[in-house]
Amino acid sequence: MLSTHVTQRKCCSYTGPKHTHIEQSKSVPWWKHALIYEIYPRSFKDSNGDGIGDLNGITNHLDYLENLGVNAIWLTPIYPSPQVDFGYDVSNYKAIDSMYGTMADFNQLLSAAKKHHIRILMDLVLNHTSNKDKWFQESASSRTNPKADWYVWNSGIPADKPGVTAFQKRYEHDGRVPPNNWESEFGGSAWQWVPARKQFYYHMFYKQQPDLNWRNPQVRKAMYNIVRFWLKKGVAGFRLDAIETLFEDPKLRDEKVFPGKDAFGDPKESLSRQSDLPEIHNVMRKLRKIVDSYPGNRVLIGETYTKNTRDLMSMYGRHGHQLQLPMDTQVGFINKMDASKFRQKIYEAENDLHGHMPLFVFDNHDNPRSWDRYGDGKHNTAIAKDMATILLTTRSVALMYYGQELGMVTTPPKRRSACKDPICISGWPKTKGRDGERTPMQWTPGPQAGFSTNTNTWLPVPPDHKWVNVETERGDSISMLNWYKRLIALRKKNLALRDGKLTMLNKNNKAVLSYLRSTTGSKSKTSVIVAINMSDQPQTVSFNLKQMGNKNYMIHTLATNEASLNSVSSLNSITLPPFASWIASIH
Ligand code: GLC
Ligand code: CA
Repeated sequence: MLSTHVTQRKCCSYTGPKHTHIEQSKSVPWWKHALIYEIYPRSFKDSNGDGIGDLNGITNHLDYLENLGVNAIWLTPIYPSPQVDFGYDVSNYKAIDSMYGTMADFNQLLSAAKKHHIRILMDLVLNHTSNKDKWFQESASSRTNPKADWYVWNSGIPADKPGVTAFQKRYEHDGRVPPNNWESEFGGSAWQWVPARKQFYYHMFYKQQPDLNWRNPQVRKAMYNIVRFWLKKGVAGFRLDAIETLFEDPKLRDEKVFPGKDAFGDPKESLSRQSDLPEIHNVMRKLRKIVDSYPGNRVLIGETYTKNTRDLMSMYGRHGHQLQLPMDTQVGFINKMDASKFRQKIYEAENDLHGHMPLFVFDNHDNPRSWDRYGDGKHNTAIAKDMATILLTTRSVALMYYGQELGMVTTPPKRRSACKDPICISGWPKTKGRDGERTPMQWTPGPQAGFSTNTNTWLPVPPDHKWVNVETERGDSISMLNWYKRLIALRKKNLALRDGKLTMLNKNNKAVLSYLRSTTGSKSKTSVIVAINMSDQPQTVSFNLKQMGNKNYMIHTLATNEASLNSVSSLNSITLPPFASWIASIH
């Protein structure tokens, strides 16, 4: 799901119910303070010179990831696939696409990663398979084969039935049209005709990605079997792709139509009959039971674009028996330097998730990079550092996307003929698709940014690799890479940043977001103050920390992107330059 609805709740004075922390104990699961790093394998590192990244490329760069402080890598799909949606169209769930390597390479990655204290998380595509998967081939062959009911089939309705829309009529076959107005997320009708069955099948995404029928127990059994296969291999868990879309309204009722057209020129519609049906929670509970039956705190991450914190909470489940880490996209996709909005969303994650860990995410392979979504064109570097500060100094599990730590930018294709992502092809020029955020990782200032020896890389290497790359940034103390490293290291060793409760400060300040992180344990009371100027003007702030009692604090700057803030020694009258981030310990 690519849409990122961010609905503001009208509530929230910040004096609400007290935050209740889940008790820390020796058995704190590894993921609770983890840094999870998303790798798009095609684009990370090419080891065999075909211009496409692969598993050995990742294995060879585990030292880089360990050094950065990564605890787990989420690999986007590496299963055999016709690659129509670059791996999200799986044709065999228990193997590796030869483009990325072999199962032996995968085993090698798994064991090498372990030596680097890095866990591997797989992407689990449950909603749909490829149309080239043998399950679908069989299902599509007749109405009576053993897998006839494994996908969502429908005979459609007569094209001349009253109420049939022009949109539906575009998809007429043998006098019949799709049973309703449902649209694919990737443009056009969500129904595709198959002559052999004289029926339509449903596809939420491309027509090469038919939706499985999750109401069929055999389908569920087959998928749970796949889950066990990878758990047995030793993966640390899964990122559940498009988990909200597993079920559709059994009555197939029309979606609501809104005025206007979408990027594909189709009518704008709601998604409420095709997404987020209550049945998804049964599946999440079952998946959780399965992962919990394996040792080592395996984890379930959800691709969840929930519109408010209450919906996000429902993904953990009332008793915490569903996902441990549904993605909280509400903070990272505010898409505006708005201190009040950030304050509200971070506050909600801290206070309204009943002590569960939020998983903050600013970047992924489906959206323009946060660099471009937040940058003002003038202060992009400082702003990107502010985003890193929010990601890494709030009480949350952090999800990063390769290249984010370098300040890689979105580089969309310049012409339609250069598009690789089918969204780019079908939506051009209204949308340029997702190629822009999937360009090769920038390792060096040299040819192909050190990504590949092949000049013909699957997507072009952005020209800024000459200065935005690992090698150059390593040697530059104020680079984005070193900013990330510093914050990641701080977060690991500073108890307050690691797990301390978060309290908002100066709640009415519209330009400066500030909060205190403090440990509650009596033995080692540490506190850290974080202040981020989200405006392009200098801002002078003072902090009155009543909650800390003692007035004579020792202030020590731990990190800042503005040298002038290194010498701050009092909480009165601190002037933060435009877009400055300041992190300091207080005793
Ligand atoms: C998820 C993936 C996206 C993919 C879609 C269909 O949204 O992140 O890349 O296209 O699911 O599987
Ligand atoms: Ca390769």
